[in-house]
Amino acid sequence: MSMRTLIKSALSSSQALEAITVKGWVRTRRDSKAFSFIELNDGSSLQNLQCIVDAGVPGYEDIERMSTGAAVGITGKLVESQGAGQSWEVHASSVKLYGEAPTDFPLQKKGHSQEFLRSIAHLRPRTNLYGAVFRMRSRLAFAIHQFFKERDFSYIHTPIITASDCEGAGEMFRVTTQSQGAKDAPESDFFGKNTFLTVSGQLEGEAFACALSNIYTFGPTFRAENSHTTRHASEFWMVEPEMAFCDLEDDMDLAEEFVKYLVRYILEQHEGDLEIFNKFVDKGLVERLNFVAERPFQRVSYTEAVEILLASGQTFEYPVSWGANLQSEHERYLTEEHFKCPTTVYNYPKDVKPFYMRSNDDGKTVAAMDLLVPGIGEIIGGAQREERYDILESNMQAHGLSKEEYAWYLDLRKFGTCPHAGFGLGFERMLMFVTGMKNIRDVIPFARTPGHCEF
Ligand code: 4AD
Ligand code: MG
Repeated sequence: MSMRTLIKSALSSSQALEAITVKGWVRTRRDSKAFSFIELNDGSSLQNLQCIVDAGVPGYEDIERMSTGAAVGITGKLVESQGAGQSWEVHASSVKLYGEAPTDFPLQKKGHSQEFLRSIAHLRPRTNLYGAVFRMRSRLAFAIHQFFKERDFSYIHTPIITASDCEGAGEMFRVTTQSQGAKDAPESDFFGKNTFLTVSGQLEGEAFACALSNIYTFGPTFRAENSHTTRHASEFWMVEPEMAFCDLEDDMDLAEEFVKYLVRYILEQHEGDLEIFNKFVDKGLVERLNFVAERPFQRVSYTEAVEILLASGQTFEYPVSWGANLQSEHERYLTEEHFKCPTTVYNYPKDVKPFYMRSNDDGKTVAAMDLLVPGIGEIIGGAQREERYDILESNMQAHGLSKEEYAWYLDLRKFGTCPHAGFGLGFERMLMFVTGMKNIRDVIPFARTPGHCEF
């Protein structure tokens, strides 16, 4: 067999070809006496390539075993298709069976529930929907790097194993080589202290922003929070830009520009994949994405948001009052019902936010911001950081953080401190937003949630 061509490039060929080889997995096969039709998919695009295999060509003796799911190679001519809906098809001169898929192949039948497909996460990328999800995931990651490259941000790889709890929520997975019995002797553990999987690369990102000016991290983060929602995972990816000489206003501007850029990128570069989401997952998707790409976002202070919620006449499960954190139902009311567009809420009460956020002059609020989007709620959380040594030190004390453990972080305020700000975008939540997928477990290749780590 000659060199393999991806089906995506075969389908976009500008001319007929004398010889082409495609390889992939059989989606369907139909037989007549004189020939068989094989719909082949190799995951390079949503589209299948139709192949006509005349009875008797080399390899045809295996045709019965080239059933749905089998891995097959086909060599032949690329010719104009007679059928509707596709431009090219292959007339095979030979076929080759690489691996058959016996009758217990779970994707033999169509129309499985997303829930069932989750239980076969190793096979679901071979379906149309999940193939599209994971091509979108790859595209969105690329768009993120492109956005920051265009703006001269440096990509920093912050550590996965860490000794600090950035969010101070105590939701960390321990990293240890000790057996159960030795658990309470951190000094004899691998690193000589307690260590964890990171919940955020922010603190380390700040050190690099206060050196390279504009940086971002983009990597896996881990949270041992016992949340059973469609928007929480125990392992997820976060994008965290951090900018020196930047205040909350600039931070909110960048966050909004970023979300718009990613939406626009997906609208322009989806290579046909958006159709499956718009057709089968969320019929208003493309319209909503266009709306988000074109219209300005709303911006309100936390105090104004509370007033809106109190005046709404809605009954919420969690009562609204100044000083309490906004719950997901409140966030969704603001973005879905009240503003009906992405909304940034800023200046939250000090007491509900982490130690590193900059205190405002009112003494009650901090320079925090959350970007909320319809259908999901919070997609970005960020803040201007406290750059004043004394205030940071007393905030750390109030949060019970050890001055020794965070001495390096305080150093950033001792040596050439400057105003700086940043945010974190939940990568999976953004992917849910641009695909309309409703459960975070369906946009991660192998999801980890409380009680679930099957693969
Ligand atoms: O709001 P969070 O907790 O902010 C931080 O971690 C900051 N250190 C970020 C920064 O300023 N550099 O998380 C940021 C975003 C959330 O808005 C949400 O989109 C996502 O990360 N996120 C989760 N996504 C999936 N599963 C979870 N358990 C998540 N927790 C947060
Ligand atoms: Mg948050």
